[in-house]
Amino acid sequence: MNRPPITIVLARAINGVIGKDNDLPWHIPGDLKRFKALTMGSAMIMGRKTFDSLPGILPGRRHIVMTRDRDWAAEGVEVVHDLNSAIARAGNDPISVIGGAAVFQLFEPIADRIELTEVLAEVEGDVTMPDLRSSEQWREIASEDHLPSGTVPGWRTVTLVRA
Ligand SMILES: NC(=O)c1ccc[n+]([C@@H]2O[C@H](COP(=O)([O-])OP(=O)(O)OC[C@H]3O[C@@H](n4cnc5c(N)ncnc54)[C@H](OP(=O)(O)O)[C@@H]3O)[C@@H](O)[C@H]2O)c1
Repeated sequence: MNRPPITIVLARAINGVIGKDNDLPWHIPGDLKRFKALTMGSAMIMGRKTFDSLPGILPGRRHIVMTRDRDWAAEGVEVVHDLNSAIARAGNDPISVIGGAAVFQLFEPIADRIELTEVLAEVEGDVTMPDLRSSEQWREIASEDHLPSGTVPGWRTVTLVRA
């Protein structure tokens, strides 16, 4: 296929929660480092709410934001209104799809890879995602466990590729 690779970068608690009050419901410094390494140099595609949840523009990465609002704009952001325009806008840059739930689900049928962080805790929240590992579409090729430490829950990274 003549397009750059599309990777979903997703962190999900064991009960499916991915967000609370438009923020992440956990603080896992090691996972933030992993997120930075995975997304650096890529064109990040995200929903408008996820963009609003960021502290600002993340250096070294393009921010392609999906919204249905034709008037929405923000400094440093490339605005798009549908899936095909988001992909076209990325051009030849590798694509990281960084959420939230609506955007993950939009890209899941066409993504090439999922970099999942499984947060090994039941967490309260208001945005959830299904367990994509249970789909026959995906095959696990790598995983790594991280023990809990202080207030940080245990977490596992899992790399999935299309089966
Ligand atoms: N754990 C993780 O990996 C992770 C990752 C990202 C975010 N989160 C969390 O998830 C929550 C936010 O996620 P969310 O699912 O509520 O929102 P979201 O997906 O970030 O944003 C939803 C918005 O994106 C736009 N949008 C969605 N689908 C679209 C489409 N097909 N075409 C055009 N625009 C579209 C709409 O913007 P308009 O309303 O402007 O039209 C919609 O309201 C926060 O709590 C955040 O911290 C977690």
